[in-house]
Amino acid sequence: MSGRNEKIKVVGLGGSLGKKSLTLSVLNVSLQGAKQVGAEVELLDLRELSLPFYNPEIKLEEYPENVSRFLNKVREADGMIWASPAYHGTISGAMKNALDFLEFLAKDQPPYLTDKVVGLITTSGGSLAGVNAINALNHICQALRAWVVPLMIPVIQAWKFFDEEGRITDPLLEERLTLLGIELVKKLKHC
Ligand SMILES: Cc1cc2nc3c(=O)[nH]c(=O)nc-3n(C[C@H](O)[C@H](O)[C@H](O)COP(=O)(O)O)c2cc1C
Repeated sequence: MSGRNEKIKVVGLGGSLGKKSLTLSVLNVSLQGAKQVGAEVELLDLRELSLPFYNPEIKLEEYPENVSRFLNKVREADGMIWASPAYHGTISGAMKNALDFLEFLAKDQPPYLTDKVVGLITTSGGSLAGVNAINALNHICQALRAWVVPLMIPVIQAWKFFDEEGRITDPLLEERLTLLGIELVKKLKHC
């Protein structure tokens, strides 16, 4: 944690393993919202992170270096924005796997994501899967002791709102996603 006198750090985590990820595009819009109100932002793209599978029998030092780097980025964050595509009615395996690695924060003082604030976004084809996936992320936040921003955004049929280059074309969605980043930082400023 930065201690709120320092610059607030917001880390985005998500996307998909696909080269062109709409989930990554929506996440970037919300991160820009957090930046607009003074936060230092960083994107952790699941594809770039390229994490191995979490296995409870493997010690941290036995994993490749990128796992510790990932955990330290999470530790340094005051707030996070998580964005997952809906896969088969819930969050993607890649996202869940990344979050499973947060078990290594169990013995931190304070443990897991205590005192951190998390914003939640999903993308999906249909609304039921998008909402279910948001709820799944919310449950994980509870388990990891994080505070959740009340504005949660399931983006349904995200492909309608972005151009070929992944730029957002829908002003209303842009406003909502930006607001999520702003609300997250606002909450952190009042912690
Ligand atoms: C393996 C797989 C499973 C999916 N399952 C669902 C689903 O159950 N419900 C749904 O609405 N969309 C589903 N989708 C659609 C994705 O959630 C949607 O296209 C999402 O925006 C893709 O994100 P991305 O561009 O970041 O990869 C699925 C897509 C894939 C590839």
